[in-house]
Amino acid sequence: MAKVIGGLLTSHVPAIGGAIQRGAQDEPYWKPFFDAWPRVREWLATARPDVVVMFYNDHGLNFFLDKLPTFAVGAADHYTNADEGWGLHPFPIPRGHAALSWAVIEKLVEREFDVTTCQSMLVDHAASIPLNLAWPGQDAAPVQIVPIAINTVQHPLPSAKRCLALGRAVSEALTEWPGEERILIMGTGGLSHQLDGERAGFMNPDYDKFCMDNLGPDPEALTRHSVHEIVELSGTQGVEILNWIAARGAMGNSVSEMARTYHIPISNTAAAVMLYETVVAGAAEQTHQATAFA
Ligand code: DHB
Ligand code: FE
Repeated sequence: MAKVIGGLLTSHVPAIGGAIQRGAQDEPYWKPFFDAWPRVREWLATARPDVVVMFYNDHGLNFFLDKLPTFAVGAADHYTNADEGWGLHPFPIPRGHAALSWAVIEKLVEREFDVTTCQSMLVDHAASIPLNLAWPGQDAAPVQIVPIAINTVQHPLPSAKRCLALGRAVSEALTEWPGEERILIMGTGGLSHQLDGERAGFMNPDYDKFCMDNLGPDPEALTRHSVHEIVELSGTQGVEILNWIAARGAMGNSVSEMARTYHIPISNTAAAVMLYETVVAGAAEQTHQATAFA
């Protein structure tokens, strides 16, 4: 049976892609952010995921404001990235796992999530940069992907409660999948940031800490805020935390925190990276001790 091995959550600021493409990772501005990644890559090297289920939000590359699904699931064998106007060269995107995508879609519709199915789909910086951070280099990450895009851009947005339930329904599909794949859940975006309007530059370390402290042990705590309260607490783009909440739902009931970094600012964003390992009740194959570090 397929196995969900853990979850990797990260901010997805386009400027991070610029730093990668310029080779600026060791510059003083960037180093505190990039220092999170050797620990993550070490974990990935032993955890050996075959598949990434990626919860992210599209920022206008594949979906524009005229047609914007609340939940969209990629169901293709090939995806591409493209110029989004950030001055980045398109990043390589791993192959898709269309068969698993369809199993996820079947389960979501059975659980009454009326998703949009995308048999062709461009994936933007919110997926491409995190994949390159996890598996750096010129080549696409050595995994197959199932991309799931959540509307965090144009209101009305889905509630945090609905996103957690979406993730849990995805988890059901993954654990029922008869293949042998080792599956990593990813969620990208956040933490607090606001790119425009009167509060441009707004960040909220207290709310970010609340999210990072609770997401693992008590994800329901994050669902007690309405979307409008989350925007208030976290900024208009900080609401990308919805992707993290959905990803947490897909990781399984119990997780242990393996790594955490938080650094302000990267561009306009409070940048965070978190790594969790899924705890399977009674399993002997728990290879790591949780080591949370700031
Ligand atoms: C920034 C952050 C984002 O999440 C994004 O999608 C684009 C830009 C920023 O801080 O610059
Ligand atoms: Fe974003």
